Amino acid sequence: MSDCTFIIFGASGDLFKRKLFPSLYALIAQKKINNIALIGVSYDDTSMHYLIERSREFIKEPINEEIWQSIIAHSSYQRLNFSQRSDFIPLKEHVVSIEQQQGLSGNRLFYLAASSDFFCSITEYLAYSGLAQKKEITDRPWHRIVYEKPFGHNLASAKQINECISHHFNEVQIYRIDHYLTKEIVGNIALVRFTNCVLEPLWNNRYVDNVQIILSESIGIESRGAYYDRYGAVSDVLQNHMLELMALIAMETPYMLTGEHVREQRAKVLQGVTVVDGIFGQYEGYLLNQVDPASTTETFVACMMRINNKRWSGVPFYFKTGKYLRQKKTVIIVKFKQVDCLLKVCPRESNYLTISIDPDAGFSLALNAKKPGIGQEVIPINMDFCHSCLFESFPPEAYAILLEDIIRGEHSVSVRFDEIEYAWRIVAQMRQLHFPLFIYPKQSDGPQELEQFNKKHGVRWLA
Ligand code: BG6
Repeated sequence: MSDCTFIIFGASGDLFKRKLFPSLYALIAQKKINNIALIGVSYDDTSMHYLIERSREFIKEPINEEIWQSIIAHSSYQRLNFSQRSDFIPLKEHVVSIEQQQGLSGNRLFYLAASSDFFCSITEYLAYSGLAQKKEITDRPWHRIVYEKPFGHNLASAKQINECISHHFNEVQIYRIDHYLTKEIVGNIALVRFTNCVLEPLWNNRYVDNVQIILSESIGIESRGAYYDRYGAVSDVLQNHMLELMALIAMETPYMLTGEHVREQRAKVLQGVTVVDGIFGQYEGYLLNQVDPASTTETFVACMMRINNKRWSGVPFYFKTGKYLRQKKTVIIVKFKQVDCLLKVCPRESNYLTISIDPDAGFSLALNAKKPGIGQEVIPINMDFCHSCLFESFPPEAYAILLEDIIRGEHSVSVRFDEIEYAWRIVAQMRQLHFPLFIYPKQSDGPQELEQFNKKHGVRWLA
């Protein structure tokens, strides 16, 4: 794999500590990348040594001290104000001198793990300083820019950032990333759908009763109050991770299962979504986390959407996500329609496919079978495919796959500018509907009032 100068904006933040550095360490330790210079950038007065050491506790595998020290030796830190154009000139000098010292070819990966309020200024100043240049896909050395989610905070801000990017760079250099798209089992969804004849013919409104996309978390907002209070559950995970899952589940067959073809089909789904109804929740004690003491930010949302096309017309898509719920669980459930009652047997609880993403990855098909013994009693049974049992017991972290893909130049991990804009339009529809907000206890299943929503829409959550 090509050498690379990895420049991280926002290196003193949580993402670098918890996800980016542990994933980089894993890639270097597994020799998947080598000859890399790591340059941390942020406003804080700190050092790269300190920032790297903070990551130790987030590394699952035993640490090889020799590799660890060698990474530190190839790391440096540059203090910079993201809104100060002149600060980008010394940064450029620093990057060039490191590249010369280490004999690197000048491939540069800029990772913007910063608030999207700074995306425009950073993009512009990268171009102004010449740190990142406009390049074609085959140009070498390459310059790539990665934008962490959330990309903007509404449609207008996302459009503004997209305009700023297209003014200075080519789309092939741009990665608006969603780490859910790199989860192994998520990558599997399209493949399983389109290559199995037992599934694909049923994947439409004739046979599917409803689809449920559930992302429950047992943790709260931790130390991210300032960020979270501004975004809430809708913009934090629904606008991106959950809508991308919906797009993958609902898209038409792409010409090929690679970058641009998949992005085109995902965008078409998001373009046709209508939000019908929903409710919000906020966990008890949320207001004690460095947030506005009168905050009405939602930490829970359950809602119903529809996709306006021939395949999905009439099929409800239900979403449910929340912080401080009973368990960590991310699943997609495709509930098939009930068969007609046969021999007085009317099974209700089966005929659904569960795609489990977290904590266990796999597929499971709930079917009906006869209870052993006399009579015609039906019991639900599961046909399971446990991904982690069959393949690696420790699948690579989503961020490790993501970084490897970006360095290789693979684009399917990236969300196209129009997908992001359609997703923000869906959020705007939700905000216009003014869902009611209810308080719920920690470690519960969300607000009690969810029951009324369920009754109103006939929802039977299957996870
Ligand atoms: C992040 C959100 O994008 O996704 C977090 O900002 C959330 O609030 C996380 O906890 C969930 O990701 P995962 O991979 O842990 O399910």
